Parts: sequence; C-alpha cells; structure tokens
Amino acid sequence: MADNEIHITPGMQRYIDQSKKDLADRTQYLEQVVKKWKFDTIAVHGLYSVHDALKNHQGAIIEPIFMSASQAYADSDEMAAALAYKIPTWCYSRIANPSTYYYEWTLALLEGYGFDGTTSCCSTSSGMAAISTAVLPFLQFRDNGSGPPNFVATAQCYGGTFQQFTVRLMQERNIECRWVADATDLSQWAEKIDKNTRLLYGELPSNPQLGFFDVQAVADLAHSHNLPLICDSTVATPALLRPICHGADIVVQSVTKSLSSGGFGICGAVISRKNIVSNIGDDGLLEDFALNVKFLQNRDLGPNLHPVQAVMALNDMRTIRSKMDMMSRSTEKVADFLADHPGVESVQYLGRTDHQHHELAARYLWLVDAEHDDQYNRAVNRYGHLMSFCVKGGAEKTRTVFDNLQRIWRATDLGRIKSVATIPAISTHQQQGEEGRELAKIPNNMIRLCVGAEHPDDIIADLDQALAALTKIYPVA
Ligand SMILES: Cc1ncc(COP(=O)(O)O)c(C=O)c1O
Repeated sequence: MADNEIHITPGMQRYIDQSKKDLADRTQYLEQVVKKWKFDTIAVHGLYSVHDALKNHQGAIIEPIFMSASQAYADSDEMAAALAYKIPTWCYSRIANPSTYYYEWTLALLEGYGFDGTTSCCSTSSGMAAISTAVLPFLQFRDNGSGPPNFVATAQCYGGTFQQFTVRLMQERNIECRWVADATDLSQWAEKIDKNTRLLYGELPSNPQLGFFDVQAVADLAHSHNLPLICDSTVATPALLRPICHGADIVVQSVTKSLSSGGFGICGAVISRKNIVSNIGDDGLLEDFALNVKFLQNRDLGPNLHPVQAVMALNDMRTIRSKMDMMSRSTEKVADFLADHPGVESVQYLGRTDHQHHELAARYLWLVDAEHDDQYNRAVNRYGHLMSFCVKGGAEKTRTVFDNLQRIWRATDLGRIKSVATIPAISTHQQQGEEGRELAKIPNNMIRLCVGAEHPDDIIADLDQALAALTKIYPVA
C-alpha cells in the first residue's frame, strides 16, 4: 500500500523478508486461535497474547500505552521499507501506534464476529472523525461533466452526522446528501440513486429516535448499483448487531459511547470487510478500505486516536457483551414503567412490541453468544440501553421533568455506565433547526434516556419523582 511505487534495495528486501515470518505467525495465531474464540474472549484479549507480551512488552498483561510520537529505525533500509509500508510499522503516531493497533484489532474482530471473511479497522479520534473517514474517499469530485457526487442517507441520525452531511458536505462542498425519510421503505432508497451516487449510509438504531432499516435489503440494493453500504452501529455495538454479517461494507462506531461506557474520553473506529463494493476508488481502497484510509487518507488528514484513549477504551470493551445484556434488561423495565405513567405521552424503545420497528429490530438485534451462555442457552433478543419518551403537555413540561431528575445526569451523552438524559431538541439536535428535526422526527417534548448499570429500581424511582413534579407545578392538567 503506497502512493508511489518505490525502488526496493537489497537491504530493504532483507527487512521485508524478515517481516514475512512475523506476518505469517500473526495470521496463523489469528486464524488458528483467536478466530476460534467466543466473543467475550476476543473482547478480553483481542490480538494481545502472552507470547507478544513476553517477547515485546516485558510481560505486561495489559496492553501498554505507547507514549511516543515516533518510532526509531536501525538503519536507512529499515526506515525506507517502513515509510513505504513494505514492512509492518507504526512510524509516527499520526499514522499508527502499537496501542491503537491492539484497539483496532479488537474492534475488527468484534465487528467481524460470525462473519465468514476478514475485517480490518482504522481507529479515529472520535465518532465524527470515523464518519468523515468512511465517507470522504467515495466523494471525490470527478470533472467528467456528470455533475457533483451525491449519497443517500437515513434522515434519522445523530445531530452531528446531520450537520456534517448538511453543512460540511452539502453547503460547503456541493456534495448532495439525499435524505431518506422512512428508511424501512426500500423504494425511498432506490428512487434516490442515480449515476452520480457514491454510497448509501444508514444509522441503526438511530439516536435518539431508534429508527431502523433492513440492513440486508439495503446492502443488496447498494450492491446491485455497485455502491457500498456504510452503517453507523454505535447504539447497538457489536454485542447486539454486526452489520458486516448482514452485507454492509463498512461500519462506523462512536467508540466514545457504549463500547467505552466508562466515559473517560472520545474515540471512534471505521471497520470494513475485505473487498468492498464501490464504483469509485483504486484497487487498494477496495481491497482493504480501513487499512487504506488509515495509512493514506488519515496520514494526510490526521484525525487519529491518542494511545492513552485507545487503551482506556480497550479496557472498557472487554465486558461489552455482559454490560449490553444487563443495561438492555434494565432499559426494558424502565421503558415499561414510563409507558404506564400518566404523565408520559409515548415511549420509544425497540424492545417494546408497540414500537413500529419492533419486528424488524427483533430480526437483527440479538445478544451475541446467548446460546453459549449458561444463563440463557438459547438465542435472546436484546435492544440496547437507549430509549426516549415524550412528556405530555409540550416542551415546557418536558423541561420541568428533566430539571427535576436527581440520580440521572443531564448531559449530551449516551452509552454511559451512569444513566444520562438529554432533550435532543435543545442539545444534540438543536443546530439542525425545526425543519431538520421534523424530518428526523424529533419533537420538542422528547427526552432521550440512556439507562446505565445502576439498579433499574433506582432509575425508575428518580423518573417517578421527576414526573411527580408535573402535578405539583401544574396541579390542574
Ligand atoms: C450514533 C452516533 N454516531 C456518531 C456520534 C459521534 O461520535 P463522537 O461524539 O464520538 O464524535 C454520536 C455521538 O453522540 C452518535 O450518537
């Protein structure tokens, strides 16, 4: 993988030959050992092994944080081979770093769990950087007289994504984003595709509306037009959904969220399968999208992850399956409580049978490996820990309930081990204005709630007392 082909000297060739053995050992360990593990074991160990620790890291059982901006080389031949990406290297932490390497492998393996093929990952400094990293390579302008490129995306998406697509791409770069209002209607996707379309993009479940779509059907549609499908699967995490197993080409994750529920910082990832489908891009990009953007595009643009954040997130990810199980079960209880409350107009939770996408979501959202778990011994649906509810009586009453929360944190955040709530219309989705919120189906009386790992009774009690404030402040309904 290189921008230009370079002349290989005999000295460089010696380094290249040496590295072949290391790469063969890694492939063997991956195929013969790691890929045979269950999801939890991969989440705990990833590619970091006892052998690796003893050989390279003084036996440290936790992946070390490599606080070094750059890597030294033995001589000019090794340096030239490394900078031409002819041998495994990390060079400079804007390009790669040993700590982010372990983070990337864990995420590649978790998103690829159950997929009959190979996946790779490019770490990014945030979820937003993951989104731009994933879409930009397809949106190059071609001066062939056919007009600017366009792409098709679900209107129900995170407010930051809406802004990136609307302001940064459409308004500033003349790249048209064609919004799909109802992503469950395949014809709405199909009718927006033309000869200048470069990709299909969908967030599922969406934040905060819990929009959903049939991943396999949309992937088939994309592929029939020689386009890639990119999915933002942040809300589900690979513990509940792995879109690549259902035909998606690329997945973006705001690892900031449930994957690193401890909440120390911001981080993201782009995970792709080998040999993606696309009507644009060179062979290298199509063959290994994530590694290509990591070593070329992101080397030049620089949206890279810090090694401290990589290891902190990695540590959080080890228990993602059991956390998503527990927090999903708690959310189900909280959603049921709210649905029965007289002060609540409506509840949106995919786990409830009254949600319009419940049946579709039930086809896709499964707790990974539940059939190998002594507690279940069967396949089990889990719907995540994001939900939202609308308060009866409008925006003012919604703010009253919100302001009276005591245990639940008021913050523009989700995916935390601590329960967090926000009002999207005044926070995450405030910039997109009334019209944009209408398109995305975000009313002003909606509270987004992400239930953490507390006992659900304590969260219910907090919501109960906050809703009780309505009858104190507005005694006559
Ligand atoms: C679904 C989704 N995607 C992407 C992002 C952006 O991630 P980050 O905040 O890590 O940049 C968010 C943030 O809330 C999100 O909810």
